[in-house]
Amino acid sequence: VHKYRPYEAVDLPDRTWPDRRITAAPRWLSTDLRDGNQALIDPMSPARKREMFDLLVRMGYKEIEVGFPSSGATDFEFVRSIIEEGAIPEDVTISVLTQAREELIERTVESLRGAHRATVHLYNATAPVFRRVVFRGSREQVKQIAVDGTRLVMEYAEKILGDETVFGYQYSPEIFTDTELDFALEVCEGVMDVWQPEAGREIILNLPATVERSTPSTHADRFEWMSRHLSRRAFVCLSAHPHNDRGTAVAAAELAVMAGADRVEGCLFGQGERTGNVDLVTLGMNLFSQGVDPQIDFSQIDEIRRTAEYCNQMEVHPRHPYAGDLVYTAFSGSHQDAIKKGFEAMEADAAAAGASVDAIEWAVPYLPIDPKDVGRSYEAVIRVNSQSGKGGIAYVLKNDHKLDLPRRMQIEFSKIIQNKTDAEGGEVTPQEIWSVFQDEYLPT
Ligand code: KIV
Ligand code: ZN
Repeated sequence: VHKYRPYEAVDLPDRTWPDRRITAAPRWLSTDLRDGNQALIDPMSPARKREMFDLLVRMGYKEIEVGFPSSGATDFEFVRSIIEEGAIPEDVTISVLTQAREELIERTVESLRGAHRATVHLYNATAPVFRRVVFRGSREQVKQIAVDGTRLVMEYAEKILGDETVFGYQYSPEIFTDTELDFALEVCEGVMDVWQPEAGREIILNLPATVERSTPSTHADRFEWMSRHLSRRAFVCLSAHPHNDRGTAVAAAELAVMAGADRVEGCLFGQGERTGNVDLVTLGMNLFSQGVDPQIDFSQIDEIRRTAEYCNQMEVHPRHPYAGDLVYTAFSGSHQDAIKKGFEAMEADAAAAGASVDAIEWAVPYLPIDPKDVGRSYEAVIRVNSQSGKGGIAYVLKNDHKLDLPRRMQIEFSKIIQNKTDAEGGEVTPQEIWSVFQDEYLPT
């Protein structure tokens, strides 16, 4: 007996997802205010929730899970406040999570009274470990919970919301990635038999990793299998909800989309339970950097980051893809030299084509995207410490002071700076470089 068992592969010899490309953004759902919030050391106050909600709306998210209203007064009151204060744009759908118990469903639907567009998201545990250890129930009983819950959601939505709300429904079999595929399918079919999806009446079937335990490829196989076997597929929005326990949530989401997922649920900067939900910023920017419009505005990444840090009371790592303080910065001399040459070549290519630099293909080594596209300046790209060489120092003088040093002078001056950084350690700022340059070459 081994303590940890390997993940079961899916028997799918004619899988097609490895041959696909992502050519359009999937639908996104932000669960920052639900899955993200529930994992915070200091959960968001109503004011912080509202800042997060407004940020998500400004960025362009059209589906936002705003809470778990039956879990307590804070979430319930927050949902009421954004509805009553008219904070939800007409084209944004809010979503609320509930367990499959009648009194919780009633309270959840009650929180949505007066909403223009709303989705109730019902989940129950379907994985064998829950059936065996937590509920001690059979497959049939677990399926019945999902089926009855769906019926109750429909009844309360009819009674409480009537025609005032464009009402949607989402179902999640919890720990989909541990649930036997045939059983996950059976439960989803049971739920669909109640909801009766058809044209203009989609159902969202969200297949959560819950705890990420398989490779992204196995996760993708499971999505392709479900996508192929579900009946009424045209009326199903198949949704992925990766978590990052193995550190591969972004890959899992991307491969799931290739394998048939229509939608991805996640959080900004990978906030969420344990190691987090999948990071919506990295996913969106990965598309952007391949020329695919993510349909989300990341042009002010530092403002997005500051707001998320305030709302979550948690810092974003300086090496976080696309958003960290250091991700467009080079300290090492060879990288600086290549970047400097890259910028110069792009300027020359643009001039030759009679175009602006923004209109030609991005080709600067070591910079995956143009920092300007996320609102960053070029000043932070090259920073100087003891690892830096003449190229970086020359770049700083050229960029800040329009000084094009001859090569011999670059070598000489970079030695002076290197002696300083070797002696003092740490980084030398552009102002300090200029001051040393003035002392050496421009004495008053
Ligand atoms: O990770 C998960 O399983 C969830 C469900 C509630 C969808 O967050
Ligand atoms: Zn989750």
